[in-house]
Amino acid sequence: MQINIMSTEPYTDQNPGTSGLRKKVKIFQKPGYLENFVQAIFDSLEDISGKTLVLGGDGRYFNREAIQVIIKIAIANGFGELIIGQGGLLSTPAASHIIRKNNALGGLILSASHNPGGPDEDFGIKYNVSNGGPAPEKYTDEFYARSKTITRYKTVQIENIDLDCIGSQAVSGVSIRIIDPVSDYADLMASIFDFEVLKNSISSGYTTLLFDAMHAITGPYAKRILVDMLGATPESVINAEPLEDFGGHHPDPNLAHAHELAQVMFSVTAPTFGAASDGDGDRNMITGSHIFVTPSDSLAIMAANAQLIPAYAQGLSGVARSMPTSQAVDRVAARLNIPCYETPTGWKFFGNLLDAGKITLCGEESFGTGSDHIREKDGLWAVLFWLNLIAVKHQSVADIVHEHWRTFGRNMYCRHDYEAVESSIANALITDLRNLLPTLAGQAFGNYIVNYADEFSYEDPVDGSFSKNQGIRIGFENGSRIVYRLSGTGTVGATLRIYLEKFEPDAALHGQDAQVALAELAELAERFCEIKKRTGRTAADVVT
Ligand code: G6P
Ligand code: ZN
Repeated sequence: MQINIMSTEPYTDQNPGTSGLRKKVKIFQKPGYLENFVQAIFDSLEDISGKTLVLGGDGRYFNREAIQVIIKIAIANGFGELIIGQGGLLSTPAASHIIRKNNALGGLILSASHNPGGPDEDFGIKYNVSNGGPAPEKYTDEFYARSKTITRYKTVQIENIDLDCIGSQAVSGVSIRIIDPVSDYADLMASIFDFEVLKNSISSGYTTLLFDAMHAITGPYAKRILVDMLGATPESVINAEPLEDFGGHHPDPNLAHAHELAQVMFSVTAPTFGAASDGDGDRNMITGSHIFVTPSDSLAIMAANAQLIPAYAQGLSGVARSMPTSQAVDRVAARLNIPCYETPTGWKFFGNLLDAGKITLCGEESFGTGSDHIREKDGLWAVLFWLNLIAVKHQSVADIVHEHWRTFGRNMYCRHDYEAVESSIANALITDLRNLLPTLAGQAFGNYIVNYADEFSYEDPVDGSFSKNQGIRIGFENGSRIVYRLSGTGTVGATLRIYLEKFEPDAALHGQDAQVALAELAELAERFCEIKKRTGRTAADVVT
């Protein structure tokens, strides 16, 4: 095999964020941009010779082209086998499972998750390690360092690979397997949940459902599992065809972006259950007839009821949530007498806890929930979890949620996002907040007395690695919190996230609108950071 060594100039901006390298497509199309980053990853990995690499993406614009480029670089770098989803498609959770199942060295997943797609929109690439999870920081730091000094990449000159035809072939001595992207994942789901109970619940009409695939990767997965295997009607899955630009929408499952679903779920024709997933299939939004379940509540409810699901019948070893996620799951863990870990934002921080068996379930406020079945969050898994709960508890989504609040109290919660803020303004805001922190403890603001004000840092209990500057927290004596973070996934300017939380033990007040219950905290949040004053804006861009 003839390996071509191509000389290249390094780029200085290939620093992976919360979840891989995400940039506008146009940036990825710059000469050598994709090639450099892929080669930087391969240069950073120890001994890839003869190993297996999994490859697939969410089908967004530039997916197919990028896969062809990566195949050639992977061959030139000495991989022994490439496993690629048909059509270049793999959801993030399916990729995680396929890496684990095949003992692969790792995988490259092409996605910018919930960010829009298309020629003028976003593309992304992330490397997952052999446990199937996102590369921890010690890897991504190396990728970045290498990308800044790279002078050459290796490639081979071969015909493009036919990505649409399932089967194996040897190319330049490397085995290239094109696999059905869905079947392994569907088998895994059938091994976790009670598909018989689910089928009965659906065929009897007790459960009616609507799943919005948002023209992203979960369409084929949802059709196979929900319709073909569980017997839901074909109309139960909407926007099922993956499109390169996601139909011009943000494939982000929240009430703002999954508006088609939201409209139906709050109408007279609402089915009993509604859900959506994101671009690459790892996020989920859960709703019932006239009710939206916050991701934080969803995690807590899953933890409280996990023993009703076959795979978790033995109980949970522990749970984890990211720091800004509400503390609802902490209450469940305390009741179950199991550990609850608080990690920085980013799924990668759960990996060690899952590998060490310290936790079984974990989740984030950013619409991600998952378990030890893989090392990524998993959108359809969460959907099946809820469907399984509804079927065995024989309760509506609203009844399940309200019962949970009565038992554990309600953590009122919401997040305000200010998007595309000028970076200099956002950075100054964070610096000023940081300087304000030491002055806050003990001060009273109306009914809110500051208990602590600090910047979150995390020491991984498994490998001792330390992550600092993971968000600013102001906690009050009544258990309420304000958290501020800059997003690590945006591609334009900076996104400020403000997370508000207040615990409400009184069942008579559980029906309150969260925005109303949190209004005073929201005012305090503005008083401390002055985002509106600094930007001249009058409201958050997105409230979830
Ligand atoms: C991605 C990651 C999540 C993370 C989320 C929010 O989806 O996989 O683990 O919680 O981004 O990140 P951000 O930095 O934008 O708040
Ligand atoms: Zn995603």
